[in-house]
Amino acid sequence: MKPLIIAGNWKSNKTASESEIWLQNFRIERTNVTVILCVPFTLLSVMKKGSFSLGAQDISPFEEGAYTGEISGKMIKEFADWVIIGHSERRKYFGETDDLLAKKAERAKSAGLKIIYCVPDDTTRIPAGVDVVAYEPVWAIGSGKSETPENANSVIVSIKAKSQVSMAIYGGSVTAENVAAFTVQPAIDGVLPGGASLDPEKFAALIRNAK
Ligand code: PGA
Repeated sequence: MKPLIIAGNWKSNKTASESEIWLQNFRIERTNVTVILCVPFTLLSVMKKGSFSLGAQDISPFEEGAYTGEISGKMIKEFADWVIIGHSERRKYFGETDDLLAKKAERAKSAGLKIIYCVPDDTTRIPAGVDVVAYEPVWAIGSGKSETPENANSVIVSIKAKSQVSMAIYGGSVTAENVAAFTVQPAIDGVLPGGASLDPEKFAALIRNAK
């Protein structure tokens, strides 16, 4: 079986006490799957106790310093090994551009973080140093309508051909029910579920069902 990456994205959900309950109810036994959970900054210290890798969902484009409200790569690295950069919600609601995202990617690399870089298609610029690309068509995110596995595979083939990145995953309405159809595709190295990572039993079932 090929090694898979399953990266849950909690987005702006859960308090510390809700995350403790999630942890108590989350069990996994897979070995060929790298499970990463990307949580809000406020939950990184709580979720460090879990039996999975941890990620942040954003990073400051600056080093530490006089940048009120920002969380630097060095701060994230104390708790997590991964960071999501360029999620479509950051692009849409916070006006993040390819230039800004390239600065964030530089900061992540210099802090020693591994990067999951989200793109909505195969024409979006991908900065150097990205570890995993996540292909996430905007219309499929949170809509309950996923991309077809065959289309996702062919977009990912194209992304890999155009970039230096060898690992690429699919995101957009992935569930325990449809995950295997994506992971059996030859070019797809895993998935990035949002909504389906919020419930510990559903997330564990999704991991179990990935082939
Ligand atoms: P979804 O979100 O699984 O809830 O569609 C995926 C994402 O936005 O990363």
